[in-house]
Amino acid sequence: MHSMLRGKHFITDQEWTREELEMVFDTADELKRDFALGRPHRYLPDKTLFMIFFDNSTRTRNSFEAGMTQLGGHAHDLTPDKLQISHGENAKDTASVLSRYGHGIAVRHCAYKEGNQYIRELAKYSRVPILNMQCDIYHPCQVLADLMTIRERFGKNTRGLKLTVAWTSAPNYVRPLSVPQSLIMLMPRFGIDVTLAAPKEFALMPETVATARANAEEAGVKFEIVDDMAEGFQNADIVIPKSWGPLTFTTNKAEGIDLIKKYPGWKCDSRMMSHAKKSAIYMHPLPADRNFEVTDEVIDGPQSVVYDEAENRLHVQKALMALTMGGRG
Ligand code: CP
Repeated sequence: MHSMLRGKHFITDQEWTREELEMVFDTADELKRDFALGRPHRYLPDKTLFMIFFDNSTRTRNSFEAGMTQLGGHAHDLTPDKLQISHGENAKDTASVLSRYGHGIAVRHCAYKEGNQYIRELAKYSRVPILNMQCDIYHPCQVLADLMTIRERFGKNTRGLKLTVAWTSAPNYVRPLSVPQSLIMLMPRFGIDVTLAAPKEFALMPETVATARANAEEAGVKFEIVDDMAEGFQNADIVIPKSWGPLTFTTNKAEGIDLIKKYPGWKCDSRMMSHAKKSAIYMHPLPADRNFEVTDEVIDGPQSVVYDEAENRLHVQKALMALTMGGRG
């Protein structure tokens, strides 16, 4: 198995081969065992990760920082206002200077049509790996944790499983498209049939849908889009109902919230879950808008694996950091 990943940027799963991703999963499994056993695994002693958060975070911030500590290194928790980014310092100067001080730069920047461009610009000038902690297009770490969780539940051979990504109505704020887009692109590559269910105003970026279709075709699996949540749930093994904004339709926030409010029935309750298989698991990247996106009965119920899913963020990210910031070049 190809394992020479030192220095490789991780901006989208799509730019990593299946073989490289298998290496991440193998490493994550081992690191999860080490963590459970209290076995030291200091693969990045004296190394530094710079984390730049343009947006809020609970899971990503704390799993990356805890992960770096457990690997024997240190993570700086930064925001644009702690840096000269807020005074206009450009990506080239930021990446060039931080590359001289440390061993990795991780960024969350979800502003639509800005975040990914900024991360790509950093990558152009960085001499250390750039790790995408979520942008406007991709959330690659989240979906690796999702797939790790699915493999734990169903086994490593995921061919033939049906996964449904469904939009939900959460009117408290407009969320990025990055989770559903990364899910529909990654899961077919691992033999999983994918159904995307959303109202018409919540279409994803056409280029990511085209990539998902091409991945499904290459893997010989199904990819379909429906505009009915219950239809999407039919016979699913895995459901991931979560909200995102109507960003390909409008970027106006007030219009976006009005459109989200237009579909209150797009909620995951026990009646909705009954359309999926009895053995189906419920997943959500969190934070979930309880009682809008999902009822307490479902998210706290026996089919929910949301805390395993959140925990696996730690293990896959530690694997990514160990392989790209340490490892072999
Ligand atoms: N799922 C996720 O990325 O959570 P945070 O926004 O809390 O980091």
